[in-house]
Amino acid sequence: MSLPEHIAIIMDGNGRWAQMRSRPRTYGHIKGTRVAKKIITSCSRKGIKYLTLYAFSSENWMRPKGEVSLLMSLLKRYLHKETNNLVKENIFFETIGDLSRLPEDVLAAIAKAKKATSQCTGLRLTFAISYGSRWEIASAAKALARQVADGTLDPEDIDESLLNAQMHTYPMPDPDLIIRTSGEKRLSNFLMWQAAYSEFYFSETLWPDFTELDLDLAIGNYLKRERRFGALTTSQNPTH
Ligand code: FPP
Repeated sequence: MSLPEHIAIIMDGNGRWAQMRSRPRTYGHIKGTRVAKKIITSCSRKGIKYLTLYAFSSENWMRPKGEVSLLMSLLKRYLHKETNNLVKENIFFETIGDLSRLPEDVLAAIAKAKKATSQCTGLRLTFAISYGSRWEIASAAKALARQVADGTLDPEDIDESLLNAQMHTYPMPDPDLIIRTSGEKRLSNFLMWQAAYSEFYFSETLWPDFTELDLDLAIGNYLKRERRFGALTTSQNPTH
């Protein structure tokens, strides 16, 4: 087994981490941003090709106004402060999600980071922002339905690869390894289409406490697994 080509992370537990310290939940998000920065650099230096981080879900819009605006400003500040470093590390920055709901200043920071890193050929870093799988799949269905309605697509031709090409992640490969921190064992509307054959790693560590060592543990655990994608292994297969 070789290193995972694509790692996706659900960075969970910021709120609990802060509450355990009698601090506002937003304090956990601030610490969580620093951890994200470290993990991004670490993945880049390890030679991971794709890293997708669940930074803000479609459902996170329902959180208190103050928490939503803090998360938005953290995203903006991260991009302002880090874009030069991303370029230095040869990291290409990308987003998935419904950006139409984002404030203008955050959109501007995203556009700037995308432009600055557009020639980078190293790690492909994707922030899932205002992202939800059900929304993504519904958007894909809508796009294909439009093509059927205008006569450019025969419904009989709709198959997995056509639907896949409408996903925001296209043409990225599916995640090999999905990590979720904080002991929760849910996908929470993250990459549901793309996770069909992903390996899952659940860490008890809260995201603000997550270190490079925890990342190494997750990758080490992944490397010990055998992926069959629904087929048999060579030793199980009588034709071999
Ligand atoms: C889940 O913790 C985390 C989030 C909703 C946001 C994740 C965002 C960051 C780590 C900061 C922004 C990221 C970048 C890369 C700039 P939670 O609040 O649901 O924790 P809880 O389950 O303990 O309440």
